[in-house]
Amino acid sequence: MKKAFITGIGGQDGSYLTEHLLKKNYKIYGIIRRNSITEHQKNRIENIHNRKNVELAYGDVEDRSSLDTLLKKIKPNEIYNLAAQSHVKISFEIPEYTIKTNALGVFNILESFKANCPKSKFYQASSSEMFGRSVDQDGYQRETTKFEPVSPYGCAKVFAFNLVKHYRHAYKLFCSNGILFNHESPRRGSNFVTSKVIKTAVEIKLGIKKKLYLGNLDSYRDWGHSKDYVRAMHLILKNSNPDDFVIATGYSKSIRELCKIVFSSLDLDYKKYVKQNKKFLRPEELKYLRGDSKKARKVLKWEPEISFEEMIKEIKEFWLNYYNAKA
Ligand code: NAP
Ligand code: GDD
Repeated sequence: MKKAFITGIGGQDGSYLTEHLLKKNYKIYGIIRRNSITEHQKNRIENIHNRKNVELAYGDVEDRSSLDTLLKKIKPNEIYNLAAQSHVKISFEIPEYTIKTNALGVFNILESFKANCPKSKFYQASSSEMFGRSVDQDGYQRETTKFEPVSPYGCAKVFAFNLVKHYRHAYKLFCSNGILFNHESPRRGSNFVTSKVIKTAVEIKLGIKKKLYLGNLDSYRDWGHSKDYVRAMHLILKNSNPDDFVIATGYSKSIRELCKIVFSSLDLDYKKYVKQNKKFLRPEELKYLRGDSKKARKVLKWEPEISFEEMIKEIKEFWLNYYNAKA
């Protein structure tokens, strides 16, 4: 039975990745952080955390000792480093913390992996936020596109990306980067734009809220579904060589278009409800993302299976059911 070690197991991707790997007959080890409200620690993994093949331990990527203890004992076949302060806007507010977790945290886990289980395969959750203001002439970002990050989050992810490549070359470790574009699901935190727009539109429909306040409506994102993207993570580690892969749908929409689609699916005109509030603007904005994932499609035979429309519908149904159950 293969063993996978997952940091960030309690997050959106960590929870779907656990479900995916359990179906492939893996034994899963994950670290969760201590939270003063114990129930919050296992929120997204409520249905799986007490399964026979899932073992959780307290740990933190900023605590090298916890990583050493676990990796020495488990010696996993695969390590997925998904832990991060993953909110870009919040990274401007807590930059030092973000850099510690998203950059130095990766250094810690790479060092621990090198010292305790160098035969493992290592996946790093890299991000399209690393591209920042850089777009190729044809309007796409790909593995060869220059990184020009525009947030503390993006800068920390570039540091981590480079470190992973360095450890691959210097120490011949199997470590790969997945450069994932935005991906969403009903498990997405409700302060990310897709969840926020859909949740608030449902609340407006149900008479719970009157307006939706957003920041920049004119940025573009390439949105996929988390379930499709965790499949790609696994394929990246199954590849014969360690490498870096862009994972994206290749379609891009603005936040304004997202609002229009979501509100009109609830028979509402978004123009009546959506207002801008400066507090949601960022000191520097990443304006445009559209990924070219040809390499992953060719080498890994990866394809996204869930359409944007299906994903929006699933998240909308999640919030409608949530409020119906409360009523
Ligand atoms: P998420 O839902 O915010 O999950 C992040 C997880 O990391 C949470 O479980 C969090 O724990 C944990 N964590 C945070 N700091 C930690 C630390 N110091 N030590 C251990 N665990 C820590 O994010 P996601 O959407 O699943 O994303 C997973 C990874 O992919 C992240 O690295 C993110 O930056 C990256 N990524 C995401 C996307 C996307 O669109 N979703 C795209 C590209 C890259 P708590 O629950 O205790 O906070
Ligand atoms: N969160 C949020 N809240 N975003 C808003 C709002 C708002 O009220 N109003 C407009 N936006 C815009 C943001 O300015 C950004 O241009 C876009 O909506 C998407 O914002 P988020 O959903 O917060 O995602 P992100 O693109 O900043 O970051 C996500 O994707 C990255 C990959 O490109 C995160 O998942 C990162 O962890 C990930 O690396």
